[in-house]
Amino acid sequence: MAQFTLPKNSKIKKGKTISAATGARNKKIFRIYRWDPDTGENPSLDIYEINLDNCGPMVLDAIIYIKNELDSTLTFRRSCREGICGSCAMNIGGTNTLACTRAIEDIKGDIKIYPLPHLPVVKDLVPDLTHFYAQYASIKPWMQTQTPPPPDQERLQSKTDRSKLDGLYECILCACCSTSCPSYWWNGDRFLGPAILLQAYRWIIDSRDENAGERLDELEDTFRLYRCHTIMNCTNTCPKGLNPAKAIAEIKKLMVSRTV
Ligand code: SF4
Ligand code: F3S
Ligand code: FES
Repeated sequence: MAQFTLPKNSKIKKGKTISAATGARNKKIFRIYRWDPDTGENPSLDIYEINLDNCGPMVLDAIIYIKNELDSTLTFRRSCREGICGSCAMNIGGTNTLACTRAIEDIKGDIKIYPLPHLPVVKDLVPDLTHFYAQYASIKPWMQTQTPPPPDQERLQSKTDRSKLDGLYECILCACCSTSCPSYWWNGDRFLGPAILLQAYRWIIDSRDENAGERLDELEDTFRLYRCHTIMNCTNTCPKGLNPAKAIAEIKKLMVSRTV
């Protein structure tokens, strides 16, 4: 029988509260998911009250402030702080997004922060992306050729062919889209999910790649590709404004019209 409640050891309990310095006027409350596998305790939702006058404008600034000034045990990933590396992806106010490009002032009321949904949690806001990266490797995300390159030359591409990669090459593999997709939640073991399918399409339509046929063969599967049911959460949530649902639709179109 289907189970609709969380197992006992996953139920989120009330956590600790750390308040901003007395006298602070510009206060904001952050409720942050915490889980430490070493304690054996259930996850908790800790409350941090921050004086916004002391930190930068983005959610990541607040999280870094909490780690530096209030609670050094808070664990999360971040690197570039400008929407390029994808490592600070998390669920903020109910939406998967990048903490470094999400402005605090755009979120009304308390800010709730959880790790990306439906992935195993390593600790606090750090999800385990091992399976996601293995799926990425499975689509062979590099140029594959059969003919030798012209002597002493790069493989050239026309401006028109290069422009076909726009809207695809910008993907930073943050996994916001895949972890927002209900089909990926239920069948992520076999469905590749929107991020990986967008990447697959990026290589299929690269004019320099000569293995489109094999790439399509690999995707022609009831789970790997066709578990996308056009739910569109992926496109709605992408923090880079990309359209993985469209890329998936393009692959499906190629499947019916393929000559390779
Ligand atoms: Fe992230 Fe967008 Fe790429 Fe998905 S398509 S991995 S949401 S950048
Ligand atoms: Fe999922 Fe996006 Fe398809 S949300 S079902 S991958 S359109
Ligand atoms: Fe790199 Fe946010 S820290 S995308």
